[in-house]
Amino acid sequence: MGDDAGVYLYQGSVFVHTVDLITPVVNDPYLWGAISTANSLSDVYAMGGVPLNALAIVGFNNCEMRVDTLKEVMKGCADKLREAKTVLLGGHTIDDKEPKFGLAVMGVCPDGSYLSQKGAKAGDILAITKPIGVGILTKAIKEGKISEKDIRSAVENMLTLNDRASLLAKRLTATSCTDVTGFGLLGHAYNIAKKSEVRLTIRFSQVPVYEASVFFAKQKIHPKGAVDNYNFVKEQLINEGLDWWQILLLSDPNTSGGLLFTFPKDALPFLEKEAQALGTKAWIIGEVEEGTGIRLVD
Ligand code: CO
Ligand code: CO
Ligand code: CO
Repeated sequence: MGDDAGVYLYQGSVFVHTVDLITPVVNDPYLWGAISTANSLSDVYAMGGVPLNALAIVGFNNCEMRVDTLKEVMKGCADKLREAKTVLLGGHTIDDKEPKFGLAVMGVCPDGSYLSQKGAKAGDILAITKPIGVGILTKAIKEGKISEKDIRSAVENMLTLNDRASLLAKRLTATSCTDVTGFGLLGHAYNIAKKSEVRLTIRFSQVPVYEASVFFAKQKIHPKGAVDNYNFVKEQLINEGLDWWQILLLSDPNTSGGLLFTFPKDALPFLEKEAQALGTKAWIIGEVEEGTGIRLVD
């Protein structure tokens, strides 16, 4: 229990099931559909699985949103599912004033084992595969302080499937893995620390962050969720000199964020080569030590 997806064992096969839905993070309906799809598939990849099929869940009200708009959302979803070689089997729509879109996804772990949040060991390395700060950017868009064009790289990253990141984690013999979404880097890192009964050290200067997010975090422009996430873990933090804007970035809720995983130090020399071979990226942001909670270093 408590991993990114539910695990179902059946006659030697490992199936993973997950469900996720989100409100719009960008104004373009096609992009929203595609991002939400990548976001829903991500929990399967965080488990080291491959998605097989999905069901769409749509919150929609034709006074609030045009049918054409919904078609665009579905098109974004269909294209992203095709990229992931995942079949859409059906779905369900409910009347909802605030639009929502997401998927229930079924996947399989082909080698009969799955990645979990439990298993990080003292001495392991901590890595992340996408920059953080998307929630802050979304908030800035909603406040009209920035346009979608200005955050192209963040949109590109949200659209990027975590399939190759998942393969990278497996090739590096990851000891724990999760994806960075609503609880922010801090919240999801804390889940690993708690379940693995270890302490994670996060070195802020090594964490990839969108430049614009830094700009807005310093002006205290952020979603409320960033503070909620911080409050949730603050008792478990050892803060060695981070300012509030840095804490906000680490706590910022992400949509379709990267994978966060730990792996043995022995595998470190292979990181660059494997990441390059897979066409993905990973940043080393800290390490695992004995203890509990999270230690933050500038
Ligand atoms: Co997750
Ligand atoms: Co999820
Ligand atoms: Co139905």
